[in-house]
Order: sequence, then structure tokens, then C-alpha cells
Amino acid sequence: MISRGSNSYSLAMQVAIALAIGGCSEKGRPMTTLAPKSDLAQWIQSLYIQVTIWDGIILAIVISAFVLAVFVFSSRVGEAAPTSAASSDLGLEIAWTLGPTLVLLMISVPTIRTIFRSQPAVAPAGALEIKVVAHQWWWEFDYPDGAKASNEMHIPVNRPIRLELESADIIHSFWVPQLGGKRDVVPGQINELTFVATVPGMYPGQCAEFCGLSHANMRFRTFVDSPDDFAKWDHDQLAGPLATPANNQLAADGAKVFADSPCTTCHMVQGISKGYIGPDLTHFGSRTTLAAGVLQNTPENVAKWIEDPQEIKPGANMPPLLLPGPKLNALVAYLESLK
Ligand code: CUA
Repeated sequence: MISRGSNSYSLAMQVAIALAIGGCSEKGRPMTTLAPKSDLAQWIQSLYIQVTIWDGIILAIVISAFVLAVFVFSSRVGEAAPTSAASSDLGLEIAWTLGPTLVLLMISVPTIRTIFRSQPAVAPAGALEIKVVAHQWWWEFDYPDGAKASNEMHIPVNRPIRLELESADIIHSFWVPQLGGKRDVVPGQINELTFVATVPGMYPGQCAEFCGLSHANMRFRTFVDSPDDFAKWDHDQLAGPLATPANNQLAADGAKVFADSPCTTCHMVQGISKGYIGPDLTHFGSRTTLAAGVLQNTPENVAKWIEDPQEIKPGANMPPLLLPGPKLNALVAYLESLK
């Protein structure tokens, strides 16, 4: 039985969902899955559209039958109740068996085709294979030529990308909505994600599997670069840190603060420290964000992060450094100079 109350509730829900989906425009909402920027995301999008069309047809048939039943075939006041004369109608039974079968086939065939297409067993020819390691709560990207990145992955446009996803601790899920579907990152197992990004730009990503206190703070950015920009970025990463500019005394002082600090236990700066527990800081100053995409990379935010990481990312392994102001400023200047 459908009461008038539940009818208006369901109508309100439908309007709310329509408004919510309508609000998912690309501008200002870059986490949308409805603006595909890779072949994989495009396949998923076209699957959405096909399934939505079939759902729409089913909805139209069901609503029509409902309206017919209510307004045409219902008994009127004063009319005798209809006697059940019909026993069976073979044509009708065949129709409502074949109809749903056909619709299910139309939905399942493209779905299964997309599942297999999105998970090739071997990397496509010429693919750039990147090892992705998920940590509580940050992302490590290791390139085949030795380049390393943390929380900001650069890839070239129009070249197949093969991500090999591993976890350093518990289950996470790699997700860049505009570049394709989620892929779980499971300890003791390597999962792959293969796609070709087709439009240069910056696409935000997010861990999509609850992984503890700072799961929501486990973000990252994917930069899809032109081939030249990617080659330059890759070259810069391999080059080691640029020497601190001679005229930057504050950064030079900060280099000493860094070398004497516990930062070196967990973080690597090539040629200076060998820590590997936290992100590699060799090119920290060239990144746009810090703390796994949570803050913009500005000197104020770096200072705030070093002073109280737990405030920004609860549960993070990084302890507060408790440095006096001048030393903190110097350390920040040094980190920002690591281009
Ligand atoms: Cu990692 Cu949620």
C-alpha cells in the first residue's frame, strides 16, 4: 500500500536527488565523476548513460501501467466489483518474461565489457608504469626512472598509465573521480589501474576506503602534463634538490636546523637525510600542497603544520617539533627553497 504521505516523501526525495545531481557541475566541484578526462572515466560515463536510458524506459513502462491501473481499470463507485474471469494469457506471460530479460542483457553486456576493458592483464605498449604506495595518511609515487613524488602525481597526457597500487599498512582506495573508477589498495597484494588521461589539468583525488582517524585527510593531486612539461618535471625530480640560493641566508640557516632536527629520521632530502617513514622532501618547495593535499603550500601553512600536525591531521605519525620562532622560520624558508 502506498499512502499519500509516502508518495509526497518519495517525490521530495526525487526532487532533492535531481537538484543534487544538477549541482555536480564541473566548476567548483572537481570531485565529480560526470566530467571524464580519461578513456577509463569516459567508458564508465557512457555506461552510466546507457543504464540510465534503460532505467528511464523501465520507469516509463511501470508508471504507465500504474496510471492505467488506477485511472482506467479501477472500479467506479456503485459499480460491481470485477469478477476474475481471466485465467492466463500466454502472450502476456511471454512478453513480461522476454522484456526484462532483454533489458537485463542490454545492461549486463556493456557492463561486463567495461569491466574487462578497464582491467587489462598486461600493461599497454608504451605505458608509463608508476608504483603507488598508500600510507596512513599519504601517497607515495615511485617512477621507473627513479623519480619520486609524494601526494602530487604527474603524468603525461595521451600516454597509457599503469599504476601498481600497494599498501604500506591497511586497506586504502585510490580514486581520482575525473580519471576513472576507484581501485582498492590492499596490503600484500598489487592491484593495477590502467588509463590514458586525455585532457591536461589538475585532478584532485581522495582515499575512498575508511582507513582510520585521518582518512578524510588522505588526499592527493594528479597533474596531467603536456609531454614537454612532464619531461621537465621528471628531469627536475631526478636532479636532486637545487642548491639553496646563495642570497637566502634564512634558508641556509634552516638547512642547519633541518640537519640537526628529528625531521631527518623520517624524511629524505637527497644527499642530506635518509628517512623513509614520511614523504620525501627533496622537492618539497615545488609542490602546490602539503600534508597530503590538506593545505596549500604557503610558508604560513608549513609553519602551522610543523608546529601542530595533530591539529591538522589527527592521528598522523608526525609529532610537533616545538621549535622557537626564529628556528621555525628558518626551517620553513629552507623547506620552501627545496624546488
Ligand atoms: Cu586511506 Cu582512507
